[in-house]
Amino acid sequence: MRNTFSNETQILGLLGHPIKHSYSPFIFNITAQLLNLDLTYLPFDVPPAELKYAVKGMVTLGFKGWNVTIPHKETIKRRLNSLSEEAALVGSVNTVVNDMGNLVGYNTDVNGVYESLLPYKDEIGGLDVTVIGAGGAARAVLYTLIKHFRPGTINLINRTEQRADTLKDYFYNKMRYPDIKTQILFPPRVQEVISNSKLIVNTTSVGMYPDSGSQLFPEAKAFNRGQVVFDLVYNPVETNFLKMAKGEGAVTINGLRMLVAQAAKSFELWTGQEMPVPAIHDAILNYIK
Ligand code: ATR
Repeated sequence: MRNTFSNETQILGLLGHPIKHSYSPFIFNITAQLLNLDLTYLPFDVPPAELKYAVKGMVTLGFKGWNVTIPHKETIKRRLNSLSEEAALVGSVNTVVNDMGNLVGYNTDVNGVYESLLPYKDEIGGLDVTVIGAGGAARAVLYTLIKHFRPGTINLINRTEQRADTLKDYFYNKMRYPDIKTQILFPPRVQEVISNSKLIVNTTSVGMYPDSGSQLFPEAKAFNRGQVVFDLVYNPVETNFLKMAKGEGAVTINGLRMLVAQAAKSFELWTGQEMPVPAIHDAILNYIK
């Protein structure tokens, strides 16, 4: 990894709490090395009460930009000068660009979802889909589906139904999308809804390391050949959810694609350069192993 810096090294970073398990420093630093760029990307563990000081400091120190992760993705908005359309509608920011003190917030998770689903765009249009979860990640998925994929009914399944209802109302009010149906995460109704969906997306953290044995629902029969099943979880790369879907003949998409695609968009916003996506994808696969 590059370990020499100059007087002009461009500094990028990550604000989160905690941040120990983030792959972003690896992704951006290896990208800089592959492209031979004079930049570095540093992780900073910043608790909520310190966020405003961290942002001021980064501007003073001339950071070109930074990523924002849990728990700052929403609270960062009030520290910024403006938001992209995606960030405003999704309601959260994962990337900040510092343009000489003018701070603009973006949501590149939307690009990550878009790139992951793009190969299936023609298959998804007009057909019913299911999104599981009603948190921040679900918002990015719903925005992307509504804006770019125009499916039929979006079934929004969540453990807490009221949170799903809140999201349904939000997207109706903001994007005038009338066709979201909410369901509680409870078989057998869930199985029926999933069986009838062309695309199923898991946006919850269920199945993620170290609880990789946990499962959203125990029955494989919800899945079938001809479906596309996307899990945003990237560690493990193949979750039990994806294994189950694959076992029934569905096409699966893992969260690593989205992870690299959202990073690629952030990188482009900061540097104007394209990330070598396939090389980074392979590098991170090795790193995880
Ligand atoms: P994120 O921003 O990553 O989406 P979040 O806003 O905390 O995180 O949302 C987490 C989502 O995963 C929620 O939909 C949550 O369900 P609740 O709304 O009922 O809390 C869902 N989730 C988390 N753990 C879960 C579990 N063990 N079983 C089912 N759903 C779970």
